[in-house]
Amino acid sequence: MGDSFGKLFRVTTWGESHGPAIGVVVEGCPPLLPLVCKENSAAGIKTLACPEIQKELDRRRPGQNELVTPRQEADVAHILSGIFEGKTTGAPISAMAFNSDFKSEDYDVFKQTDRPGHAGFTYRAKYGIYDYRGGGRSSYRETWGRVFAGAIAKKILKKLGIEVLAYVAQVADIEAHIDPNKVTMKEIEASPTRCPHPASAKLMEELIEKAKQEGDSLGGVVGVIVKNMPIGLGEPVFDKLDADLFKALKSIHATKSVEIGAGSEAATLKGSEHNDPFAVDRSGKIHPLTNKAGGVLGGISTGENLILRVTFKPTATIRKPQSTVTVSGKKTILEGAGRHDPCVLPRAIPTVEAMTALTLVDHYLRDAAYSAFVKR
Ligand SMILES: Cc1cc2nc3c(=O)[nH]c(=O)nc-3n(C[C@H](O)[C@H](O)[C@H](O)COP(=O)(O)O)c2cc1C
Repeated sequence: MGDSFGKLFRVTTWGESHGPAIGVVVEGCPPLLPLVCKENSAAGIKTLACPEIQKELDRRRPGQNELVTPRQEADVAHILSGIFEGKTTGAPISAMAFNSDFKSEDYDVFKQTDRPGHAGFTYRAKYGIYDYRGGGRSSYRETWGRVFAGAIAKKILKKLGIEVLAYVAQVADIEAHIDPNKVTMKEIEASPTRCPHPASAKLMEELIEKAKQEGDSLGGVVGVIVKNMPIGLGEPVFDKLDADLFKALKSIHATKSVEIGAGSEAATLKGSEHNDPFAVDRSGKIHPLTNKAGGVLGGISTGENLILRVTFKPTATIRKPQSTVTVSGKKTILEGAGRHDPCVLPRAIPTVEAMTALTLVDHYLRDAAYSAFVKR
């Protein structure tokens, strides 16, 4: 059912929104990566807690402010394998977190009526069964494991000097005019919206609050920037770096499109406007002077910053009454039940960073096979 991602750095997630726990297995992590851990315990078993990984999971946690779902989950990662004496061993790293604050009875209404815009309709048609309690695997809770694995991937990238950042660039019609190359983590985390432009962040916050009061929801755009990229990541045909990033980012729930560089604007530019001319820098290296390509040419990284944009739709579950039909075809009026994010963008940020980091580490490990033969 497509629960795994990556070729050499391989991540598998498991668990449902209202099941007892959610979890992840990370295969292919290089040994000797320092990950300081403390002792923890779960269900009478000794486990490990890693503050560095937990920090990323806390950024994704529900209930962190008024702009997100009020569901309260501690989301503490219990690490079960793959880390010994504060270092990765090269063995599979597995971890889990318990689900504690779920109210499945709130979802009884979705037993007979699928939410317009949500996954119930297609899950039921394909499998003949759907875990309507919190949406099962279609819930954002599934991404806990991605963010756990992404924290390890980000640590590997940091060792290589590479930084991955995602930020909210637009909510509904409020667009923050930002130079992605200048965005910092501190600016992103300064607002609950995760928009690094304070004036726009304030307007976005007010708009999300308003939509929440009205029982409605909003979409928007997330920007991604990867700094200090090496040249040469990505394969030229089916596994282009940008193609794999598109798949990774589009696999996040509620995404509608992914663009790189000039993106769809390229359609209106002339070649003379879109091409990035090459120049020689002070160290004698050739590189593109501008970056309309967004950091990839021919499926392979140019060494310039990666620049991407991901569009998210408005949250499917809304409190406003919607005219629809039950699974047996009877006309009904559906009013959303359960607890939901009025705008998914602020909480999507850690997962966008995680999926970007996972794709880059996977390609970095794949590229290492060539580095013995090719001098760059
Ligand atoms: C951060 C985040 C939070 C989400 N929270 C909700 C939510 O509270 N309610 C909801 O109906 N959908 C939510 N979703 C979206 C659904 O998971 C998604 O729309 C659904 O599975 C249908 O899949 P699709 O939109 O990718 O086609 C969330 C998505 C993200 C990225």
